[in-house]
Amino acid sequence: MKWMESFHALCILFPLIIIIVGVHGSAAKWNKYKKAIDVAVKKYKPCTSNDCSCYQSMLDNDLSTWEEGIRRSDFDAAIDRGTHYQIINHKLYRQTECMFPFRCSGVEHFILELIDKLPDTEMVINVRDYPQAPKWGKPFPIFSFSKVLKENHDIMYPAWTFWEGGPAVWPIYPTGLGRWDEQRIIITKEAAKHPWEKKKNVAFFRGSRTSAERDPLILLSRAEPDLADAQYTKNQAWKSDKDTLGAPPAKEIKLEDHCKYKYLFNFRGVAASFRFKHLFFCKSVVFHVGEDWLEFFYPAMKPWVHYIPVKQDLSDLRELIVFARENDDTVKKIAERGYEFIRDHLRMQDVSCYWQRLIARYTELLTWKPSLNKSLFEVKPKPKNKMEL
Ligand SMILES: *[C@@H]1O[C@H](CO)[C@@H](O)[C@H](O)[C@H]1NC(C)=O
Repeated sequence: MKWMESFHALCILFPLIIIIVGVHGSAAKWNKYKKAIDVAVKKYKPCTSNDCSCYQSMLDNDLSTWEEGIRRSDFDAAIDRGTHYQIINHKLYRQTECMFPFRCSGVEHFILELIDKLPDTEMVINVRDYPQAPKWGKPFPIFSFSKVLKENHDIMYPAWTFWEGGPAVWPIYPTGLGRWDEQRIIITKEAAKHPWEKKKNVAFFRGSRTSAERDPLILLSRAEPDLADAQYTKNQAWKSDKDTLGAPPAKEIKLEDHCKYKYLFNFRGVAASFRFKHLFFCKSVVFHVGEDWLEFFYPAMKPWVHYIPVKQDLSDLRELIVFARENDDTVKKIAERGYEFIRDHLRMQDVSCYWQRLIARYTELLTWKPSLNKSLFEVKPKPKNKMEL
């Protein structure tokens, strides 16, 4: 009788042990990520300033190339790499040509707003996506919105898309994604309809196939639709389903409609992707792929504190999504911290503040006194009422 009872007990206990060990094992599997989060959060010193000084180290870094001053010959080497601007006696001047007029206009918006506070200066602003001053070459001073720290000398400025000139996505952003001040409000409103508990715990992505780097997420979505909903949309170059990885293109989805999902993906495009900052306003967790491409505000945001870092080759993609699902409270906090950072430190006044400091600091480095170049024309502020239309 005794051994029968023990046998029975074993029959009940054994599966129980397996379950306990199993659950414990899968929880232990997440220790590396949980530890990374703990370490990052402990190390992080929240930015408490109410101006743009959170981004000071980026500015220092960008200008460190020019510690000994910018010579006229350095500047001349930059002139045909971008659009030549001057500020003389609180007026803004520009060369006639600008490769992307709406982008120049997006840049000019911020400069004109500050013009009364800006010193006489002269700069070359690159409005292409791609940086222009590779580290392997002789440096020249050029302003670009995005770069790879170890590869480019470019001096970063806040992108034109904070105001206008962003990528036109038909039919959702026919005139181009811009007006960060308006987007902040639009996305916040929509996010309120999708509190964390109601969001789908699915990885979401809609965007074009700028590079094959995004394919693993699309393929994961096709294989395991309960984990990911990721599809390619058309871009201008779209000719057939081949350009959307063998499936018909998906419909474009406005950024605020991404808020229904807990896990939102950010990939680089040609350079850093404009959507990054928008995603945080959903109060979803941002999965940020790769760490090379920067905009001026990226280095103030930290992996695991504000977003989940994903390897460039997406080899940890599936694991990270499962981690997020099984550690809901932990990743919810990442979403909250990311949201709060962007809400508090990437306001329009922070963008203006960065422009002002950038121009002031850069101008101190010029070793000549700029005087009006007669071939430039004056850029006048747009009439207010026209801008509000
Ligand atoms: C004036 O600006 C034009 C256009 O950028 C440039 O080609 C030229 O070198 C400038 N001249 C001087 C004297 O700086």
